[in-house]
Amino acid sequence: MADFGGEPTTQTSLPYTDVVKAKTDHLYEKVAAFIPEFEWRLHAPYIAAINDLKKQINAVILAHNYMTPEIFNCVGDFAGDSLQLAKEAAKTDADIIVQAGVHFMAETSKILCPDKTVLIPDMEAGCSLAASLTGADVRLLKQRYPGAPVVTYVNTTADVKAETDICCTSSNAVEVVEHAAREFNSDTVILIPDQYLAKNVAAMTDIKIVTWAGACEVHERFTADDIREIRDGNPGVIVLAHPECPPDVIAEADFAGSTSGMSNYVKVNQPEHVVLITECSMSDNVALENPNVKFVRPCNLCPYMKRITLPKILRSLQTMEHEVIIDAEIIEKARAPIERMMALPLTRQSMYAHERPPEVMAIETRV
Ligand code: 13P
Ligand code: SF4
Repeated sequence: MADFGGEPTTQTSLPYTDVVKAKTDHLYEKVAAFIPEFEWRLHAPYIAAINDLKKQINAVILAHNYMTPEIFNCVGDFAGDSLQLAKEAAKTDADIIVQAGVHFMAETSKILCPDKTVLIPDMEAGCSLAASLTGADVRLLKQRYPGAPVVTYVNTTADVKAETDICCTSSNAVEVVEHAAREFNSDTVILIPDQYLAKNVAAMTDIKIVTWAGACEVHERFTADDIREIRDGNPGVIVLAHPECPPDVIAEADFAGSTSGMSNYVKVNQPEHVVLITECSMSDNVALENPNVKFVRPCNLCPYMKRITLPKILRSLQTMEHEVIIDAEIIEKARAPIERMMALPLTRQSMYAHERPPEVMAIETRV
């Protein structure tokens, strides 16, 4: 165990002192509308310790939009959706990257920065989509659909990326699928593992799509009836949804886009009343940045994202656990599809206003 920052923190809370107060009062201003003072006194000592230690050891924290407000606003050096975080990882000159997000995001950072130490504060911070597909599954799909390019969502393991032609995220999926079809001169693209994202992309393009029976366990729980009920109870509400939701949910929404796409929509349009059909912390973080917008709050928690907490981030910086280790050969193979995605000159974010029926050619599964 490396010796960084003294003894690893094992106690359940650190004391709120005058020194802590002086170091964190300016950060409390950012979240005071959402975090009551008694709760802040629990977070602040960790925030002060994390921010001190980060500087000492040249570490950065990449925080996904689903992190809780005290992480997102007070210790994250860069915040955003999966694509933005991957781009920040590729650019950083820090020695250590702490991923305040889930394991596939930390793997992406390691693949892009193999010489850096990449840490995930909790190894159980997984993802139902990443867990649904293996590299062996992809090899079988390639045999079944020879010549069709393989586009995988970044919510996949390094083994899967190593079998991939080009990666995509929810913010660029339509553009990546069309690019892959052109490059491979194919009318069919394998877009895996999220069957709902695949259907929502199919509704935006003439390309035939083969997908996989994977789903995000957070977004697949939303229904079109939920949206109708929200509209009935909140006349005039603007509904924004993530494209991992089933297509009938997207059809009921006013706008669908990545986590940052939704956040930008609110920033630009300043709707009077909005609901974000996605993970719960999104609304908290977007609400803090848009104090004049009223939020309707039905949401689903991601149990994996919620495993990342301030005490675990501090412990991770102190102990260098849990380091993400990936076989060098897999890193080499997995880097190309991520870099191809990042090199695409994307002129617009993928939006999912269905223009055709959301129908795919096949939904494959392991037999
Ligand atoms: P974004 O790329 O939109 O941030 O999505 C990542 C994710 O895991 C959503 O569930
Ligand atoms: Fe995976 Fe869904 Fe959680 Fe995102 S919200 S990390 S897709 S389980």
